[in-house]
Amino acid sequence: MMHRAVSHALRNDWAPVSIAFNALRCPSCRALAPFGGRPYSVLPPITDSEEKAMLDRMLRVDHAGEYGANRIYAGQMAVLGRTQSGPLIQRMWDQEKHHLQKFNEILAENRVRPTLLLPLWNVAGFVLGASSALLGKEGAMACTVAVEESISEHYNSQIRALMEADPDRYKELLQIIKEFRDDEMEHHDTGLEQDAESVPGYWLMKTVIQAGCKAAIYISERV
Ligand SMILES: [Fe+2]
Ligand SMILES: [Fe+2]
Repeated sequence: MMHRAVSHALRNDWAPVSIAFNALRCPSCRALAPFGGRPYSVLPPITDSEEKAMLDRMLRVDHAGEYGANRIYAGQMAVLGRTQSGPLIQRMWDQEKHHLQKFNEILAENRVRPTLLLPLWNVAGFVLGASSALLGKEGAMACTVAVEESISEHYNSQIRALMEADPDRYKELLQIIKEFRDDEMEHHDTGLEQDAESVPGYWLMKTVIQAGCKAAIYISERV
């Protein structure tokens, strides 16, 4: 079952990105719409290459994080979907789907290419979700606590950077990141409420997963 889920994901998880890119194409000639052809929704008009590079990096890593989070919850659902914890995990996954969809749209609208490592995060996220869930509900929740804490901290540091740069200019982006950060903190708290800390080896597991998240964030900003 897990094998089938992995190969399905490898084939289909690029779909939302390509659908979003296709929305920017002219329906008759399929050419991409020119820059400035659409009113901006989230980002202000970019003034220089430095700003473009900063925003590209932020959006690329955020997209990668939400993509990975989706794969983690997919892995957890593959193992625990039919248990009592299924509906709770599904609810968190549904929120991650919304986060990912938003970043798919923002990336497409602003011509930011996703990280080249999506295929790796696809498999690694699913394996992390499924293997933590094999330790039982508490294992899955420990994974959730570790990952969501890392993502919340990551979003907080972006919020600080954007606030320092120009809170007015990045108002819409800040609003989205703050909303998602709040969702991630809620997932983190849910994990704790669901006895994450009672899994044997909780602190070791949390430390290892968070080191992995840090590495994934570092790489996804750059590749
Ligand atoms: Fe998320
Ligand atoms: Fe989350």
